[in-house]
Amino acid sequence: MSIASKPKLNAVRLIEKKRHNGTHTQAEINALIEGLMSDEVKDYQMAAWLMAVCLNGLNVDETTWLTEAFVKSGHVLDLSGVQGTVVDKHSTGGVGDKTTLVIVPLLASAGLKVAKLSGRGLGFTGGTIDKLEAIPGFRVEVDDKHFIEQLNKVGCVISSQSKDFTPADALIYKLRDVTATVDNLSLIAASVVSKKIVAGAEIIVLDIKYGRGAFMKTLDEANALADLCREVGERLGKALLTEISPMEEPLGLAVGNALEVLEAVQTLKGQGPKDLEDLSVALAARVVYQAGLTDTLEQAVALLKAHLHDGSAFATFKAMVKAQHGDVEALEDESLMQQPDRISLLPSPITGTVQSIDPLLVAQAVQLMGGGRMKKEDKIHHGVGVVLHVKVGSFIEKGDTLLEIYAGGTHYSEALALLSQAFVLA
Ligand code: URA
Repeated sequence: MSIASKPKLNAVRLIEKKRHNGTHTQAEINALIEGLMSDEVKDYQMAAWLMAVCLNGLNVDETTWLTEAFVKSGHVLDLSGVQGTVVDKHSTGGVGDKTTLVIVPLLASAGLKVAKLSGRGLGFTGGTIDKLEAIPGFRVEVDDKHFIEQLNKVGCVISSQSKDFTPADALIYKLRDVTATVDNLSLIAASVVSKKIVAGAEIIVLDIKYGRGAFMKTLDEANALADLCREVGERLGKALLTEISPMEEPLGLAVGNALEVLEAVQTLKGQGPKDLEDLSVALAARVVYQAGLTDTLEQAVALLKAHLHDGSAFATFKAMVKAQHGDVEALEDESLMQQPDRISLLPSPITGTVQSIDPLLVAQAVQLMGGGRMKKEDKIHHGVGVVLHVKVGSFIEKGDTLLEIYAGGTHYSEALALLSQAFVLA
C-alpha cells in the first residue's frame, strides 16, 4: 500500500468503536457513508452502527461531519436561475402533521419560492412523500432542471430525496424507519439539516415537535434538538430558524396518507381544523416576516390567512400537483384515491369530556393497518387511516362517534384495541 492511499475500510471496527463509545474522526464518518453508497458497507452493518449511535450518541463534530457526508453523497441544488427569495420549512415529524402540504403552496401564493425536499414515513410518523403519493400519478422525484423550471413557473416544488439529493440520508432513513433508530438527536439533525443545505433556501424554518406523538418526548429534548440543528447549520454556513411545538394529540383530525391530503386541501381552502391552520400560518408567518414581505408578524398572519380564504393557496397547490403529474381532480373527489377496505366507527362508551387522545397509539394503529411500514419493502396502503370526530376538551354523549376507522386488509382488531385505549374520557 502506498503511503498516500486510503486505509481499507473496516466497517466492523467502526461499529465496534461506536459501541464502545469511541469518538469518530471525520475520515471515519466519510468512509462509512462513502462505503454505504458504494455498497462496501452493507445495510445490516449500517443498521448496527445506527443502533450504536442511538446508544452512545455523536458529539457535535461527528454530527456535523455526518451532515456534510450526507450532503456530499449527492449535490447541492443550483438556485442561481431562480427569480425571487427561496424559502423552506421542515418538521421533525408528528402524528397528523401535514403542515408541509399547507405551508409550501401557501408561501408560494404569497410570492415566495419554496424549494422543499421531503422524506417518507419515519417510525410511527407519516411522511410528506408517502402522502403525496396518495394522489394518483404524482411524481415525487424531480430532477434539477425540472425543479428550477417548476420553482420559477409555479413557485413551489416538493421532491423526494433521489440519487442526486442526499441519497445517503435516503438509504439511512429507510433503515432507521424499521430498526428503532429514529429518535436520536444527531441522526435527526443530520437528516434534516443535510436536506436543508441541499435544497439551498435562504430562509428556513424548522418545526421541532415534542410530546407523546413526536420523537422528542420533552420540551428540554426539543430545545436540545433545536440548538443542535442551528449549531450544525451554522457550522455548515446555513442559518436556521427554529420553532418548538407540542404534539400531545394528533394535529388536525385526519391521520393516514390520503386522508391527510384531503384535510390539507380543506385547510388550503380556509376550511380546515383550527389547530392545523393556526400552526401552518404561524410557521409560514415567521418566514414571510423574515423575508421582509411584511413589517410585523401580525401582518404576515393576516396576509397568509387572506391567501387561505381567497383560494390562491389552493390554486397554487393544484398547480404544483399538476406540474408533478398528479391527478388534480382527486384533490376534490376522494373516490379517485385508493379506498380503504372498510370504514367503521368507534363509539364513545360514556357521556363526558375528552381528556386526552394518545397520538402514539393512533399512529401505531394506522401503521399496523398498512398506513406505514414495518419492513423496508412494505407497500403503503394510502387509503388507510382514521378521522377524529373529537379533540381534547370536546364534550361527547355515550354512543357518539369518537373516530372513523379507514381499515386496510390487515390487523383490524389489534388496531381497534389500540384506538380504544387512545382516548381518556371523563
Ligand atoms: N425528518 C427528517 O427528515 N429526518 C428525521 O430524522 C426526522 C424528521
